Amino acid sequence: MTYSVDTRAVHAGRADLAELGVHALPLDFSTTYPMHDQVAAGAALGAFADGAATAATPVYQRLYNPTTARFEQALAELEGTEAAVSFASGMAAITAVLQAACLMTERRHVVAVRPLYGGTDHLLSIGLLGLSVTWVEQDEVARAIRPDTGLVVVETPGNPTLNLVDIATVVIQAGDVPVLVDNTFATPVLQNPARLGAAYVVHSGTKYLGGHGDVLGGVVACAEQRAGALRQVRILTGAVLHPLAGYLLHRGLATLPLRVRAAQATAATLAVRLAVHKGISKVHYPGLPGNDPRGLIGRQMRGPGAMIAFETTGDAAAVVAALRLITPAVSLGSVDSLIEHPALLTHRLVDAEGKETGGITPNLLRMSVGLEDPEDLWADLDQALRAAGTRATVAVDAHAATAAVPAEPTVPAEPAAVAVAADPHAAVLAAPVIAVPEPEAFAEAVSATSAQAVNGSAPVPA
Ligand SMILES: Cc1ncc(COP(=O)(O)O)c(C=O)c1O
Repeated sequence: MTYSVDTRAVHAGRADLAELGVHALPLDFSTTYPMHDQVAAGAALGAFADGAATAATPVYQRLYNPTTARFEQALAELEGTEAAVSFASGMAAITAVLQAACLMTERRHVVAVRPLYGGTDHLLSIGLLGLSVTWVEQDEVARAIRPDTGLVVVETPGNPTLNLVDIATVVIQAGDVPVLVDNTFATPVLQNPARLGAAYVVHSGTKYLGGHGDVLGGVVACAEQRAGALRQVRILTGAVLHPLAGYLLHRGLATLPLRVRAAQATAATLAVRLAVHKGISKVHYPGLPGNDPRGLIGRQMRGPGAMIAFETTGDAAAVVAALRLITPAVSLGSVDSLIEHPALLTHRLVDAEGKETGGITPNLLRMSVGLEDPEDLWADLDQALRAAGTRATVAVDAHAATAAVPAEPTVPAEPAAVAVAADPHAAVLAAPVIAVPEPEAFAEAVSATSAQAVNGSAPVPA
C-alpha cells in the first residue's frame, strides 16, 4: 500500500516503535558500544569503513548511530530513494557529495548553475576542495560537461531569487555525470528530484526539515550504491549529525507537510499583494505569472513554496530595520517568518559576476514565510515598506573577488538532445496544492485590489 506524503511524514522511520514498546523516537547518545567479542567488533568496523549502512555493533558514534539512522530512513522514504546519509550541516552534506563524486573519482571539474546558496557558491568558487567550476545557464549544461566532470550542481528553487531549474532536462544534458539537486527550498513535500533522475538530493535540514530554528543538520538522499562513499567520507571527516539533532529533524518531519502548505498559502497571498505595492519594483515568486517560464509547477513541483524574494524601490536594509514582527535573520523554513538582505548576508561572499548572473541586487530581500496570520505579516511588511520608502538605496560593497579563475572546458562535449523526460510519476505531480492566479485572474486581482493593497487593507485576493 502506498501512503500519501502526509501519512509517510508521520510514520516514516517508526515502523518498529510499537514492537519496541515506545511511542517517541528512541534517543541514543552513546559514543562507544561495549563488545566483548573484539573480532566481531573489528568485522563491524571493517564493514562501516567499506561504506555499510549497518553492522553487528555500531562500534563508535562516528561510524553509526541508531537515532540518526532512523532519521535517514525516514528522509529516504519521503524522497523516494534507497538511502539517505546525514551530516552535521547542509554545507557538510554538500562538501561530502563533492568529495565522493569528484575527489574519490579523480574527476575534479564541476558544472554549476547560479544562483546557489552563497556558501555553496563560495565553496565552489574559491577552489577550497581543489575543484574547478564552470558556471552555466541551465540550458548550457551539456556544452560544459568534460571528461573530468564529476558533478553537476543545481538548486531549485534557487537561493535567493527562487529561479526554477528544469531537473529532468539538466539530468539528460548531464548524461553519465551525476546531478546534485539542493532541495532545501522545496522540501520533499513539494519536489522529489531523485524521481526526475537526480543522483544526489541535498537538504540543509536546518531549514524546513527541523522547522523550528533550533537544529543544524544536513542530509543527502541517494541510491545505496552512492551512499557507501558518502558514509566513508563522513567517517573520515567526522562531519556527523549529533543524535539530538537527528531526533529533532526526525520529529520535524511529522509536521513538515502541514507547515509547508500553510506557509505556502500565506506566501502566495503576500506575493500577490507585494506585486502591486508601490514600495516594490519586482517580486520573485514561482507562483506569480511569468516566474515559471518552463511550466515546472504542477510538473516538477507540487506548489510554488513558501519563500519569496522582492526588490524594493527604496533602501532594502531600511525596510528590514523597520520591521516589528517579522524576524530579521538569515536562515529559513522556521515557524516564524524570517527576512534578510542576501547581498549583505547570505550571498555576501559571492563574487560580483556571481551576484550579477544570480540576480542578487542591492535592493533584493529574501523572506521565508512562516506560520503567522497572513494579515499580521502583511501589516508589518506594509508599514516597513512605507517607513523606508523615501530613503536612498543602501550601498552594498561589492565583495572582493577571491575566487580561483574557473577553468574553461577544454573538450566540449556535443550538446545532448535537450528534451523533457516523460515523467513516470505524473500521478504524484498533481496540480499545485494552492490556487495560483492565472495571468488574467492575476490582472483582475491586481486592478481590483491595488488601491486597497497599497493601503494595507486589501482582502486576501482569490
Ligand atoms: C539552499 C541551501 N543549501 C544549503 C545551505 C547550507 O546549510 P547549513 O547552513 O545547514 O550548512 C543553506 C543555508 O542557508 C541553504 O539555504
